[in-house]
Amino acid sequence: MSKPAKSLYGDNRLPKHIAIIMDGNGRWASKRLMPRQVGHKAGIEALRRTIETMIDLKIPVLTVYAFSTENWKRPADEVNHLMNLLLDYLTNELANLHEKNIKLRILGDQQALSARIREELAIACRTTASNTGLLLNIALNYGGRSEIVKATREIAQKVKEGYFDIEDINETTFEEHLYSQGVPEPDLLIRTAGELRISNFLLWQIAYTEIYVTDVLWPDFDREVILEAIEDYLKRDRKFGATK
Ligand code: IPE
Ligand code: IPE
Ligand code: MG
Repeated sequence: MSKPAKSLYGDNRLPKHIAIIMDGNGRWASKRLMPRQVGHKAGIEALRRTIETMIDLKIPVLTVYAFSTENWKRPADEVNHLMNLLLDYLTNELANLHEKNIKLRILGDQQALSARIREELAIACRTTASNTGLLLNIALNYGGRSEIVKATREIAQKVKEGYFDIEDINETTFEEHLYSQGVPEPDLLIRTAGELRISNFLLWQIAYTEIYVTDVLWPDFDREVILEAIEDYLKRDRKFGATK
């Protein structure tokens, strides 16, 4: 694998957490007059390449949007196909992820997933729990709004049971009830396939994240595009509301 531009390699200004909305599988397949399924399958290869690049660049955290709470609106065939792809990915890739010292974490409501998938997810998370390399968060049946509602309910329950006073609720306690609890916020959010929207991804966490949208469709996503996104990110002046 070729090394990134010398100026980037080991640069401590590199993002510590990159989040990606992996979009455009369907369009990639349509352009080739193939069924959407083919695009999703090709998307798995793009995910593999992305993980490799993150490891090579020593980016500590990668969060990928794999299935949204709204994606259940798709035809049952497509939903089943996506779930089966995920299952295959977990079973085929676990040993490899573990060998690469990757720690897997799932963001999202797992209750709605099949027992088989929940079991595989639990095995994969347990197996990789003490790994110290890349933290790979897979957002699965994830919705930013439902995550915020979940946190609110848990906090309300604790207030009701007397663990907290209302005055104790602040941004830190709120974060502790999100799926992403303990994970630093993304520095860079990349969306592929050109749409200028968030689609219910990480609503709380991206308050100050830098956004990069590329027209490249997810199955074509590669190291070059990641490097372009990072080069662009490094030119940004992150002010977090302050003056310079
Ligand atoms: C992203 O590709 C994959 C998922 C949302 C699961 P799409 O399936 O949304 O592809 P387009 O947007 O229709 O091209
Ligand atoms: C966002 O893509 C969800 C994932 C990538 C998993 P969508 O294709 O579902 O988003 P919309 O429908 O274009 O907003
Ligand atoms: Mg899409």
